[in-house]
Amino acid sequence: MIVAIDGPAGAGKSTVARAAARALGFQYLDTGAMYRAAGLADDPVAADIRLADGRVLLDGRDVTAEIRTPEASERASVVAARPEVRAAMVAKQRAIMATGDWVAEGRDIGTVVAPDAELKVFLTADPRERARRRAAELGLDVEHVLREQALRDERDRTRAASPLVPAPDAIELDTTGLTIDEVVDRIRELAGC
Ligand code: DC
Repeated sequence: MIVAIDGPAGAGKSTVARAAARALGFQYLDTGAMYRAAGLADDPVAADIRLADGRVLLDGRDVTAEIRTPEASERASVVAARPEVRAAMVAKQRAIMATGDWVAEGRDIGTVVAPDAELKVFLTADPRERARRRAAELGLDVEHVLREQALRDERDRTRAASPLVPAPDAIELDTTGLTIDEVVDRIRELAGC
């Protein structure tokens, strides 16, 4: 079974997807980490990107910490707009999820990577709430994060290649004011597990 969790940055995807995978006993795939690693590569299409035991390896180099910097966020958003990079990442993601049960988080899991996913959830949250969460996580100023977030959201939503939109059969879940446990419980209910 595949559970697709898509949505904008700061909607709680990573925390929710990781917790949902644990609750369901499924494996977890963070596709954003792959775009982040690609953004650091000299050649994002040919790059050898591996996710193992919570670590991210780029051509054999551990970039787990480096992919979380604000600069890496910016580079990931730029590289994610390139169709040839998306094609390479989607192929890798499909190969990873070819066997077993997965909770996969990203922007295009339900629309492109796994359109046959049994459950598609599109997580959203109020923009200021998203910026507040992100700022707290990174120790940055909320207003600064809010401005950068608006630019990245706009780029992710309006790019020609796989823009960030919910799949027609996705269930939208607004996480503003909900606890992680409440969101995970809802996903378990929806997954029928
Ligand atoms: O979820 P994240 O912030 O780690 O994602 C990093 C960037 O990669 C972000 O700009 C959106 C992009 N991305 C994407 O285009 N498609 C995905 N499936 C996952 C992430």
